[in-house]
Amino acid sequence: MRHLHTRTARRRVVGALAAGLLCTVGLAAPALAAPTENLAAAEDVSPAVDDGLALTPPMGFNNWNSTHCRAEFNEDMVKGIADIFVEKGLKDAGYQYVNLDDCWALPSRDANGKLVPDPARFPNGISAVADYVHSKGLKLGIYTSAGTKTCNDAGFPGALGHEYSDAQQFADWGVDYLKYDNCNNQGVDALSRYTTMRDALQAASRTTGRPIVYSICEWGENKPWEWASEVGHLWRTTGDISDSWGSMLSILKQNLPLDEYAGPGQWNDPDMLEVGNGGMTDTEYRSHFSMWSIMAAPLLIGSDLRRASDETFDILGNREVIAVDQDPLGEQGKVLSSEGGRWVVAKEMRDGSRTVALFNETGSAQRVATTAQAVGLPDAGAYTLRDLWQHRSYNTAGTISATVPAHGTVLVRVATDTRWAKNPPAVELGLDGSLLTEAGKKVTLTSTVTDLGRTAAKQVSVQLSGPKGWAVRATSPATVNSLPTGRSLRTSWKVTAPDGTAAGSYDLKLKATYRSPTGVRAESVLPLTASVVVAPPSGVSSLGDLPWLSTTNGWGPVERNTSNGENEAGDGNPLTVGGVVWADGLGVHAESSVEYYTGKACETVTAQVGVDDEEGADGSVAFEIWADGTKVASTGVLTNSQAAQAISADVTGAQVVRLVVTDGGDGITSDHGDWADAQLAC
Ligand code: GLA
Repeated sequence: MRHLHTRTARRRVVGALAAGLLCTVGLAAPALAAPTENLAAAEDVSPAVDDGLALTPPMGFNNWNSTHCRAEFNEDMVKGIADIFVEKGLKDAGYQYVNLDDCWALPSRDANGKLVPDPARFPNGISAVADYVHSKGLKLGIYTSAGTKTCNDAGFPGALGHEYSDAQQFADWGVDYLKYDNCNNQGVDALSRYTTMRDALQAASRTTGRPIVYSICEWGENKPWEWASEVGHLWRTTGDISDSWGSMLSILKQNLPLDEYAGPGQWNDPDMLEVGNGGMTDTEYRSHFSMWSIMAAPLLIGSDLRRASDETFDILGNREVIAVDQDPLGEQGKVLSSEGGRWVVAKEMRDGSRTVALFNETGSAQRVATTAQAVGLPDAGAYTLRDLWQHRSYNTAGTISATVPAHGTVLVRVATDTRWAKNPPAVELGLDGSLLTEAGKKVTLTSTVTDLGRTAAKQVSVQLSGPKGWAVRATSPATVNSLPTGRSLRTSWKVTAPDGTAAGSYDLKLKATYRSPTGVRAESVLPLTASVVVAPPSGVSSLGDLPWLSTTNGWGPVERNTSNGENEAGDGNPLTVGGVVWADGLGVHAESSVEYYTGKACETVTAQVGVDDEEGADGSVAFEIWADGTKVASTGVLTNSQAAQAISADVTGAQVVRLVVTDGGDGITSDHGDWADAQLAC
């Protein structure tokens, strides 16, 4: 019922936008009226038409995430990106818009109130850049703010009160896309500010015949998903992304529940891509790109492609994943389950297939599972399952499952298909046992290879391999002749890291090779991470000084004995909560997690926790302490106005202790969490 209602609402909105199209092509059309009237009037528009813009989520580039305001943001960069779009096949893959963000203008308007491009960055003006970009068959985007100034401290002119003049100037330059920000808005109502610019863009593009995609950037402050589909083509749903796992995760979680508001010409925008900027692993960047695509998010590349690695191009250029984002049905994937950080998100595709993301939020490998029926496919004896990162097809009897590495995503497209039998069966790999080990000590692991297919896996063989010098030995059979549907091969292993191995992370690989009944070779690989650890010191230690196993953080790195400075390591201030300064502890930014190896040898964790005083009123976080998989202590939501609160947890028997800071449920703006005076007793 809810779904049906959404559909109806979406169609109405598209109808409302139709009036916009008529304007841009110069036909007589009524100006758009107030939103409520639009909805009523649009119901008469039948069949629904649309303005033909952003029918699939916009794809392109924006400089902000890689350059911010730095001087390297200039004409050379923009032209260089356009060149690379063509040379590297990204244009053919669908990337189209080359967008300028903040800092392209001079701080003052000219004597006629016109905007002036910064001559140091754009010596030939913006229209020359537009011409160049257009000559490559691409489009140009620009930026300003629905306020008196843009967001940068240098204070570039905003368009509030200058909407028609600025929109005309953009149109005259040949601009195809406007990102309209929210800074310095003087408290003027958002609907009115963003609607005025919509009308100004329509008026301007009527004079040039060039339509302009309109990107609303008010950070989700006024629930734009409820009104912006009548105003623009996409709307930011959150604050700014940063190049970190914690930031990406926080934004993902805010954008996922908004699926019902997305559709052709109206997209939730969880902000631009960080893929390739260096703050996440390639596994994390594949998750970022997978999840943005299954959410039908705009795909705006945010790294400087002139310096990008092959891996970055492989991720951004994955056409099977891009096809998920660009599917013409325009559905945003829906969350089916998220228990314990094991996420299943499914997206209906126009051809009736479903794209399914098995996403692992946690710091260790997890089994994530669903079924063809649960993702909405019709009952069938077998399905074709396409792995969109491996580019391989399999058959499945209905189970869609995998062991997903920490922070990883397995992205598959599943369909009913009469030719399923030509593909080998899918197999699922698993590994039981702890991958935490002290050097020189043997650990016992058990691998499983399970046939998920309708057909049997033949001549199955499994191998576990470790770094050079590690002893890895199977202590039970590692091969089997035939594995029928649903059956598993279980193999025991003994693994030893050599004496003297330094503490840290090491790569292991579990691999199964097999054949389909008709002899087609297949393989499945599960990358694993083992951690070589040292036993914690006995007595009471300050956690600010102990080595950790792993960290994730919303902005910048976790800091030892200072607050979080958001960017480089060591850029924090003394830990200060409620006016009290602390010498020891950890400074983090939500979403954050810091893990310590305690080897079943410790008893308690204590700390004084709160939002660091350096932040404004927006900061709100909650603190949690986990002993292995169990939450053993937590605070409620703490805000900037509160003094530090004591937290204490019994961690007896835990192998690993995890200190978690969540965003308090409202995104990660200004969420500087301090674990002051944090101590571990062993
Ligand atoms: C805001 C926006 C960002 C970026 C900057 C530029 O923070 O949300 O995406 O455009 O302004 O100053």
